Amino acid sequence: MNILVLGGGGREHAIAWALAKSPRTDSLYVAPGNGGTDGIAQNVPDLNPEDGQAVLAFVRENAIDFVVIGPEAPLVAGVADVLRAAGVPTFGPDAQGAQLEGSKTFSKKFMDANDIPTARYASFTDLEPALAYVRELGAPIVVKADGLAAGKGVVVADELEDAEDAVRSCFDGAFGDSGKTVLIEECLTGPECSMLAFVSDGKAHCMATAQDHKRAFDGDRGPNTGGMGAYSPVPIVTPDELAAMHDIMERAAVATAREFDNDYRGVLYGGFMLTPEGPKIIEFNARFGDPETQVVLPRLESDLADIMLAVAEGRPDDIDLRWSEQWAVCVVLASEGYPGSYEKGKVILGIDEAEQIEGVTVFHAGTAKNFDDELVTAGGRVLNVVALGDSFDDAREKAYEACDLINFEGKQYRSDIG
Ligand code: AMP
Ligand code: GLY
Repeated sequence: MNILVLGGGGREHAIAWALAKSPRTDSLYVAPGNGGTDGIAQNVPDLNPEDGQAVLAFVRENAIDFVVIGPEAPLVAGVADVLRAAGVPTFGPDAQGAQLEGSKTFSKKFMDANDIPTARYASFTDLEPALAYVRELGAPIVVKADGLAAGKGVVVADELEDAEDAVRSCFDGAFGDSGKTVLIEECLTGPECSMLAFVSDGKAHCMATAQDHKRAFDGDRGPNTGGMGAYSPVPIVTPDELAAMHDIMERAAVATAREFDNDYRGVLYGGFMLTPEGPKIIEFNARFGDPETQVVLPRLESDLADIMLAVAEGRPDDIDLRWSEQWAVCVVLASEGYPGSYEKGKVILGIDEAEQIEGVTVFHAGTAKNFDDELVTAGGRVLNVVALGDSFDDAREKAYEACDLINFEGKQYRSDIG
């Protein structure tokens, strides 16, 4: 099978890495790809993953049998719709289903209509009523831009003033069109846990639990980022909580089939908070999590190409998920300044040495080759250092040992993942 993966982050490197292991895979392309996918697949740097017609033309020219869409932007842009309409098996929901991630208001309405537990909320398109609502509810309170903001459009405000500032900054255009509608939410408390599920024709196959570290700095301080590290499984989840999470994902999957004409074929990502009243959904995403994927897929023992094709072809009963007993820890190495501005083009050394450690795999995110064919930094999140171990401590120690062996100017990472 010739497979095209759309995207170029650590998640797509992990997906391509798992697909490359499948005996089903003949040729593997990643568009645009990064410095890491370069070694295991053919990168297609000039193909815009959000341009459905361009992707379809590439599929036809290169006899691609199957397309896997990694990030949210091409999903929201309707690339899956274009491909499916042309008869190309595609992993990833259509544009309507992707609104579960693309619009927080849409997602909340979906949750309310299907009895999915979540934080109480109201959404606003004008400043004054939004401010009045914030003052009425009081802090702590959560302010969210409605649309996509690369994980950065949410402010959990402990002080009323911060909440008011967040509302103003959203309406002032801090997130462009994504902030034209603002959601104000009740602040939930409890640990967070992600559960990803393969969803096809109304059935959910839940993956192993994972926990992401969204804040930039140690001790969960600093701004929210795209994710600074992750681990899997999440030991604090009780059997009752796990059962409740499965139930919520299964009910959500049934609802996707009803509301999106069975075109929800991909991953549904449930971002949960384990509140004192039980697990509640903080957000749905319409794709694999990043960096959760980097700790979940290395623990998957079954063939990812088989699974993804079954999802895309609407054969959910053919999906067989088997997980290794090992623990996985991922530490993100970022550029100095991330999630704010940062420099690019710093030479990266030591990845081969790091991968000599048993169980360590380095997935690339923002990397590229320069004119001298050296690997250099090309983004905010640069590398995902993943270690598998027989215990949580074992995996974590190996991951940090590997992080020490990798160097680039301005290397920044959290020392408390897990
Ligand atoms: P989201 O992009 O909606 O997942 O929000 C990003 C992060 O903000 C979440 O992972 C939580 O840490 C936090 N957050 C979002 N909504 C709430 C809420 N209602 N209560 C408390 N924290 C929240
Ligand atoms: N790790 C958070 C996300 O993928 O949205």
